[in-house]
Order: sequence, then structure tokens, then C-alpha cells
Amino acid sequence: MNPPVVHASTVLFPDSATLVGRSQKYTYGTRGTPTTDALAAAMDELEGSAGTIIVPSGLAAVTVPLLAFAEAGSHVLIVDSVYHPTRHFADTMLKRLGVEVEYYDPHIGAGIAALMRPNTSVVFTESPASNTFEVQDIPAISKVAKQAGAVVMMDNTWATPLYFRPLDFGVDISIHAATKYPAGHSDVLLGTVSANEQHWQRLHDGFITLGCCSAPDDVYQVLRGLRTMGIRLEHHRTSALAVAEWLEGRPGVASVLHPALPGHPDHELWKRDFSGSSGIFSIVLDGGSQKQAHAFLDALKIFGLGFSWGGYESLAVPVSLADRTIARGKYAGPVIRLQIGLEDVEDLKTDLQRGLDAAASA
Ligand SMILES: Cc1ncc(COP(=O)(O)O)c(C=O)c1O
Repeated sequence: MNPPVVHASTVLFPDSATLVGRSQKYTYGTRGTPTTDALAAAMDELEGSAGTIIVPSGLAAVTVPLLAFAEAGSHVLIVDSVYHPTRHFADTMLKRLGVEVEYYDPHIGAGIAALMRPNTSVVFTESPASNTFEVQDIPAISKVAKQAGAVVMMDNTWATPLYFRPLDFGVDISIHAATKYPAGHSDVLLGTVSANEQHWQRLHDGFITLGCCSAPDDVYQVLRGLRTMGIRLEHHRTSALAVAEWLEGRPGVASVLHPALPGHPDHELWKRDFSGSSGIFSIVLDGGSQKQAHAFLDALKIFGLGFSWGGYESLAVPVSLADRTIARGKYAGPVIRLQIGLEDVEDLKTDLQRGLDAAASA
């Protein structure tokens, strides 16, 4: 059964000696409650981690570990195809704090050795890539980075720990926007960060220092969502694959960016490391510009137009690659990201055909 929701700022101590020594398990709301412990324990079991912090959003799950490990005067390597707000944080706040930020090609693999410096503190990965779904060679990158003394972080939101366990592949810190599949219903924001034994203490210290704890009701909702994540994810996986296969080669579609499709350039790498695929991928329209992309999106009746993903309903958004400096790709037309929800697959195909027809006549 799920534990009760504990609301706490103040926690009482039985006597002054216990208070001064802080010698009881729970001491103050920011430092954890039985509710946050229950979710952290579940994530530790899924990720194989030594400890998990719970933060108020997926973006906070990116920024808190970066603040905990990147130091002034150090150098941080981030994959060029990273979630845009991660890049924005690095380019603004990290740089302002005296951290040198450099982006790398998602296909770099062991070649990342050439970019490592004596002061490289963090290598930040995200695989598959946000919006364009390139798959990285995580074991090769982790091996080189760790030999050089850098902490390896990975945004693992796409796969969830059910389809990829970063710590088993040499990553030190695994990050989730629990807003997506763990919450699963598009109405809760939360993030989790799970660390191996070596990095847990420093991550936890950073978390406590920043004071970015989460609301207990949201933590509870994610714990509740986690109970059904496996079966929801399996449904997302099969529906997304069915839709992706149907879209591949369809008139008006130049390519489908889904790593579980055998024709995807990184399919073999994906197959080697991942045990499943989730419900989000992109399509490239066969020519055209923003006009065709907007015609496609505006014709959709089942797919909602909105950010985020991992909920039960299908969503579509146009993709901008304007922030990329390396992984810009040579796409034949506009890129559109699709989140495949739990609706009927045939209904979704009908809706997408409406979009393709509208783009063709725009
Ligand atoms: C890969 C990835 N990481 C992190 C986040 C941030 O999550 P949140 O929306 O909870 O801040 C997102 C959100 O879209 C995401 O796609």
C-alpha cells in the first residue's frame, strides 16, 4: 500500500539533547519525510542507486546536480542535442558562476577523450537526444569521462529505469523528469536524481544546501503513478512503434526519428543498451517550411498541441533546432515531435493522416 502523505515543516523532538544532536531520523521538512523516503527508495530500487533526491521539476533535477558538482574554473561537457532548458541553464547561470561550458556531438562515443581536460568536472549526457533521438554510446563516454576524473550525469527521462539503467552502464548520476512517465497524467511536476555510492553524499549535500524540496502531495502522486508505470509504458511503447512504422515511408514523411525502428541510424546501439522504447519520437516532413508544419499541427483533432510528454494523451509540437551548434542534422523538412498516448492506434493514424493531408495542401 502507498504510505500516508506526511506534511511537514516542523518536526518535534522529544527533548533538547535530541534536538541539539539532531539525533532522530526526521528533523525538518526540507530534509525528507516518510513520503519522500518512500519515493526515493522506489527509485533506488529501479535505478540501482545508493540514494535519490526528489526535487520540484525535471528541470530542477538537471540544475541541482550540475550546481552540486560543477565548480568555478572547471569545464563541463554537455551533449549538443540536450533538452533546451538544460542548455539555457548552462549558458547563463553556469557560465556566470565561472564554469566553462562546451557542447559535444551526440555520436562522439569514445572520441570524447579528445575534449576532456584536466579540469573537466562533469560530462552531461541525454540519450536518446531531445527531439531528434540520436543514441549515444553511454558506456564508451562514461569510461573515458571517469578515467579523466569527471562525474557522468545522464538525463534518462525518455527510457525510464525500466528500459535503461544508466548506473549499470557507468553513469554516476541518473536524472528523471518524473513529470513524464512516473507521474503519467500531465498534471504533476517533479524530478528525481539518483546517485551511485561514490557521489551520493555530495549530491545530497547540494540538495540540502539549495533547499529545493518538493510538495508532499506531488511526491505521493508520483509514487502512485509509479505503480502503473510499467503497464502504461508498455502500451506507449507498442502504440508508438505501430504509429512510427505506419508513418515510415508514408507520402509526406521524409523520415521517422525513432531509434527502435531498424532503419534508424543508431538502431544497433539502441538495441545493444536499451530494453525498450517509450512513446515519444519525431517525424520529418518531406519538404516545406513552418507553413506546412503549422498546417499539419492545426489539422490535428486528437493530438493536443502542448509541451511535455509521458501523459495518457497524445501531443504534438514543432521542433526548433536553432540552439544546436553541432547536431543540427540535414533534415528534408520541418521536424515535428509526437508523444503517443494511450488512445486507439487507428484513431491516431487517422488524425495524423489529417495532418499530412493538410501539410500537402498548404
Ligand atoms: C528530457 C527532459 N528532461 C527534463 C525535462 C524537464 O522536466 P520538467 O518539465 O518537469 O521541468 C524535460 C521536459 O520536457 C525533458 O523533456
